[in-house]
Amino acid sequence: MKIGVLTSGGDAPGMNSAIRAIVRYGLSKNLEIIGIERGYQGLIEGDFRKLGRDDVSEIVQRGGTILHTARSKDFEKEEGILKAIDNIKNQNMDGLIVIGGEGSLRGAFELYKRGIKVVGIPGSIDNDIWGTDFSIGFDTACNNVIDAINKIRDTAAAHERTFVIEVMGRECGYIAFVAGLVSGADIVLIPEVPIDFPYIAEKLKDRQKRNKKHNIIVVAEGVGSAYFIGKQIEDRIGLPTRIVVLGHIQRGGSPSVLDRNIATFMGVEAIKVLMNGFSGVMIGWQNNTTVSVPLEDVVNNKKRVPPELYWEMEKIW
Ligand code: F6P
Repeated sequence: MKIGVLTSGGDAPGMNSAIRAIVRYGLSKNLEIIGIERGYQGLIEGDFRKLGRDDVSEIVQRGGTILHTARSKDFEKEEGILKAIDNIKNQNMDGLIVIGGEGSLRGAFELYKRGIKVVGIPGSIDNDIWGTDFSIGFDTACNNVIDAINKIRDTAAAHERTFVIEVMGRECGYIAFVAGLVSGADIVLIPEVPIDFPYIAEKLKDRQKRNKKHNIIVVAEGVGSAYFIGKQIEDRIGLPTRIVVLGHIQRGGSPSVLDRNIATFMGVEAIKVLMNGFSGVMIGWQNNTTVSVPLEDVVNNKKRVPPELYWEMEKIW
């Protein structure tokens, strides 16, 4: 069997572990593994290379993806999808493994619907993919965020200041929610819960009454600009703020144990599934093990922070 592998969309730390597992497990089963460069764009352009055992040496500790990634505009058009299918067929590929986020898995489903044997692996720091407890990269991104918050807290405490820290997450607030919760943030704002400035003001005033001199506010990018929120806090309660936008730092760095572990098991499982003749599924991670979830269900459902969970945990911050 000949299996292609690509990484697509936002890179996520741990993707390299999945590639390494796919290559090494696949070779152990006498499969040929073809690396496709720059996601669906490389699939359309025929940018392929055969991967050997040594091609995936020394990559497990690195963030990013050795196959590079892209958000392919061409693949959004039928013409692009058909070109990609032609290339898969011309290469005699028996299956394709797509590692990526919501949009990439949607692309995988489009290929599957047109007869290609595809298996998806969830890779996104946002943790917004339905059917899996964790997507690859989320844990590392949260570790990056709490590392930054720990540092900001030192200067916030020293200067008795209020910081608004913007983290990634346009539609899904999992990074803000989890990293905020475990780093001891005082207020966490996520897109799933409408922003409420009177609530923020009340929280901050209550902290003032309790003689708390510094504040850490974590906001997901989808809520709105941290600069705007900071300005509102200054205008409404007269507290000067400092703004930190963490940006792409969150996506980099050496992957955590959790990300490397789930990525490795997902990579192995993806090969097993294809070898057993199945496809059209994503390999998710549930209850500490891999599961096969139909891609159709993955693309037709959204994973978001449940607002009731947000309000339950809000008692802690
Ligand atoms: O999907 C992952 C993600 O990092 C989001 O959290 C963020 O909104 C987006 O990608 C940023 O995309 P880009 O790197 O293309 O600017």
